[in-house]
Amino acid sequence: MVVGGGGREHAIIKKIKENKEVSEIFALPGNGGIASDATCVNIGAKDIEKIVEFAVENKIDYAVVAPDDPLVLGCVDALNEKGIPCFGPEGKAAIIEGSKVFSKNLMKKYGIPTAAYEVFNDMEKALEYLETAPIPTVIKADGLALGKGVIIAMTRDEAKAAVVSMMQDKMFGTSGDNVVIEEFLTGPEVSVLAFTDGKTVAPMVSSMDHKRAGDNDTGLNTGGMGTIAPNPCYTPEVASVCMEKIFLPTIDAMNKEGRTFKGCLYFGLMITPDGPKVIEYNCRFGDPETQVVLPLLESDLLTIMMATTNGTLSETEVKFSDKSACCVIMASEGYPVKYEKGYEINIPEEISGNVYVAGAELKDGKLLTNGGRVLGVTAVEENLKSAIDASYKLVDKISFGNAFYRHDIGAKALAVMED
Ligand code: AMP
Ligand code: GLY
Repeated sequence: MVVGGGGREHAIIKKIKENKEVSEIFALPGNGGIASDATCVNIGAKDIEKIVEFAVENKIDYAVVAPDDPLVLGCVDALNEKGIPCFGPEGKAAIIEGSKVFSKNLMKKYGIPTAAYEVFNDMEKALEYLETAPIPTVIKADGLALGKGVIIAMTRDEAKAAVVSMMQDKMFGTSGDNVVIEEFLTGPEVSVLAFTDGKTVAPMVSSMDHKRAGDNDTGLNTGGMGTIAPNPCYTPEVASVCMEKIFLPTIDAMNKEGRTFKGCLYFGLMITPDGPKVIEYNCRFGDPETQVVLPLLESDLLTIMMATTNGTLSETEVKFSDKSACCVIMASEGYPVKYEKGYEINIPEEISGNVYVAGAELKDGKLLTNGGRVLGVTAVEENLKSAIDASYKLVDKISFGNAFYRHDIGAKALAVMED
């Protein structure tokens, strides 16, 4: 059983299906595209009670809880209570993503490199601090905010306006009761997802997300408009510093706090002039990072997942191909603000293996757009340049009304490699 219904879950399901011992996969709720690879069940990813009920009734052997919300709400705890083994952290460990105040304090306590910061629960005090704080500065709502609770303020007025909108106008609801105000860092960003059983950390191939809606990093922040892997900024030297100063210390810190983390821990890193620092942790696979990382995985995904549950990761092979991957997100024009739905999607059958469906529904046998991010189109090739070219060739073969995508996914990474 896979909980969730986006492109990330489609990529996880396609990979799990490669294991010949898997007889049936249920997706809760899944989507119109996932329906080609799994049995979709109309239960929302946040409906913990119904998820558990379904799992018990259908004698689920193994569950994968993919999105942040159910993890933070304790979905894994509730399934474990009924004896169902799961991939994913318990609620008390998922807090590493669920609360920025928790994760920042954890990093400070255990000396894990991150941006300097202050926490405020009183708006007046936050505004007073901003009178003299270094600018630019970064304002973050404490709780989950669909990846939108971060404002980079380039001026003092912008910073104050961000605090007021979070703490007084409750732009992100109770997520803004506490805010973190932190140092603005610079440098290339790298996403590293890592399997862990709470003892061993097995980092996956690195990747680079493209968060802004428009070409050349213009427009609003989105959930992610495309990814490439591996990320050329993540050199072997950077990787070894990250292992020693960030990955292992984080696992150790969570154990010492009595919050052992099992599952996929996502390290959002910035390679600053002072070395790699943590921008954020996520308690789950990234979306759309998963759509480039899992296609490069050569070992069996389900075997690795079960090893994180059983504590046997150190004995389990986690091997990645040395090829490159590029995923271009095809979205609906207007995303992330306002967009139309219900357009028919045409995907030639012979390329369906390269397509991860994020926002679509099946109606009378037709696949219709049903979200901001609609498809993730991934190509794997010998090198990054070929992977980028191949993924855009695939995009050219797909059509739907109001389709919109970035034309420069991977361009920044290519420029780094040419330097
Ligand atoms: P987050 O949701 O914490 O990953 O933040 C979203 C994006 O904001 C990150 O991917 C960065 O591009 C940017 N960001 C977050 N924190 C900082 C920071 N301290 N300095 C510079 N940019 C940041
Ligand atoms: N792509 C960023 C995330 O999954 O949070």
